[in-house]
Amino acid sequence: MGSKTPLTKNQKLLTWIDEMAGICAPDQVIWCDGSKEEYDELAQMMVKNGTYVKLNEAKRPNSYWVRSDPADVARVEDRTFVCTKNSEDVGPTNNWRDTDEMKAEMIKLYTNCMKGRTMYVVPFSMGPLGSRIAHIGVVLTDSAYVVNNKRIMTRMGKAVLDILGENGDFIPCLHSVGMPLKEGVKDVPWPCNANNKYITHFPAERTIWSYGSGYGGNALVGKKCFALRIASSMAREEGWLAEHMLILGITPPNGEKIYVTAAFPSACGKTNLAMLIPTIPGWKVECIGDDIAWMKFGEDGRLYAINPEAGFFGVAPGTSMKTNPNCMLTMKENCIFTNVAYTEDGDIWWEEMTDELPAKLTDWKGNDWTPDTGTPAAHPNARFTAPASQCPVIDPAWEDPKGVPISAFLFGGRRGSVVPLIHQSLNWQHGTFLGSIVSSEKTAAAAGKVGELRYDPFAMLPFCGYHMGDYFNHWLTIGKKGDEDTLPKIFYVNWFLKNKNGKFLWPGYGENSRVLKWVVERVNGEGKAEKTAIGWVPTKDALDLEGLDISPDELDELLKVDPEAWKQQIPLIRKHFAQFGDRLPAGLQEELDSLEKRLKG
Ligand code: GTP
Ligand code: SPV
Ligand code: MN
Repeated sequence: MGSKTPLTKNQKLLTWIDEMAGICAPDQVIWCDGSKEEYDELAQMMVKNGTYVKLNEAKRPNSYWVRSDPADVARVEDRTFVCTKNSEDVGPTNNWRDTDEMKAEMIKLYTNCMKGRTMYVVPFSMGPLGSRIAHIGVVLTDSAYVVNNKRIMTRMGKAVLDILGENGDFIPCLHSVGMPLKEGVKDVPWPCNANNKYITHFPAERTIWSYGSGYGGNALVGKKCFALRIASSMAREEGWLAEHMLILGITPPNGEKIYVTAAFPSACGKTNLAMLIPTIPGWKVECIGDDIAWMKFGEDGRLYAINPEAGFFGVAPGTSMKTNPNCMLTMKENCIFTNVAYTEDGDIWWEEMTDELPAKLTDWKGNDWTPDTGTPAAHPNARFTAPASQCPVIDPAWEDPKGVPISAFLFGGRRGSVVPLIHQSLNWQHGTFLGSIVSSEKTAAAAGKVGELRYDPFAMLPFCGYHMGDYFNHWLTIGKKGDEDTLPKIFYVNWFLKNKNGKFLWPGYGENSRVLKWVVERVNGEGKAEKTAIGWVPTKDALDLEGLDISPDELDELLKVDPEAWKQQIPLIRKHFAQFGDRLPAGLQEELDSLEKRLKG
């Protein structure tokens, strides 16, 4: 398994590892080569120590069930820090710490933190190997669970070191579960340091230090820490975009394929949209990525996107053969399931996976569960880790190092009222405004109160690695690098409108293809639309609703722009904007004032 001797001659990497190993004091340092043998060996080791339960090979080949510590189940936004010299540089939406102070504090925590454990050296590429849009990172971690997740989520191992060569640069990431095995301490299946988590970022040095958590975005540092927080800061410096966006390709019957990205807050439908099966005949949707997009301008002035990841770390509950069959098929083998429930025949289950509830399960806490138990069998933020290559509708271009040209951006969130099913921005600046006012009811993807409405600009609230006001400005600047013909068109969608009885008005999932169809038409300069105070909204007859059971009243509700309800949003938006002070770009203030004027008619 792996190698005890270094797999590189890269001096920067060797020096850094020596330094970190000196502080963390692991029993051994192992270089991961990314091979299947290594993966299987680590998996076997985790079965032996109780971290993994192997699923029934006949039902779910080469797959594992993992239960986390109940105190380590989601991203911890209040324990996530962006560290700079100046507090003003991170803005009001990030937790700031002084770089030197945070480092000193972390070094204390890291000192001897890997006693009794192995430090794994995990080289990984975010994006197809060698793509001009991709970047390399190396994480040092004491969690075998993280190593094996990263093998699914990224291109990982020896091949990455070969590209790095002797002089290549990389993003150094240090991760520890924060539970040294000192004398007398017995290991547990899910080691962590529940009350002492630090997810810290140092954008000036492009470095990530994570401590105390083994879960998701806290621990798989290539994902939110690197591909969003650090990358967004790199993107601003270098003139590109790192966004919390899915990427999909959509092909009309006898028409030209276009690529679309969509930014929705965590647990608001990216994975589902990315691989939906259109309900309208003849249309095809293919998936490039389900969570993150990195985009650079091509020579033709268009934005080209890659998926920096190689796997999906998706929300399990709610996923079923009815709502997202492609996702269910993606998970048929070679997966890791964390905090789902375990069936009597050695497979996995979660809420809404099947119409009929299993008679008996082991729940995510390891307790016996029956339909009468009264608590969810799977944690609401239970997740699967699945190789993207297994997705039945993975796009043929998903590993194209050039990326794919993007024609439209969708923004969206969970709003029970006010925000219509879809509207289109009037232009780039107005589209940037729409991104800046994304708001959503909070989900279980992060610790905290579920259901509360919060502004989540560009779905980047927890992920923007610098001042959000500067980020808005970066978007406006990107707009100036292209023109309205080559830049993506910008839309805002809301699948989550509810009727008076609290039921969803829109069926969602595969039916969202009807909305995508209108997007394609608008991109092609077609598609009927009415200009309203908030932007272009489809006319009543513009959406293809053939075969869908929706009453005229319901359609009215779905496309309604209620000026009174929107007027009530204005003071909320003003307050949201006020927090950015003089870093709020004038263009966005202008858009808000114009919106207010238009609403007054
Ligand atoms: P992250 O991985 O946290 O970034 O989430 P995500 O944006 O990929 O969300 P995902 O697609 O996993 O969906 C989260 C939840 O929203 C699931 O429980 C879905 O069942 C539900 N959901 C997704 N799409 C729709 C939709 O069109 N309508 C409704 N009503 N629910 C949806
Ligand atoms: C999200 O919360 O947006 C996720 C899951 O995609 S995590 O990797 O935990 O950030
Ligand atoms: Mn996400």
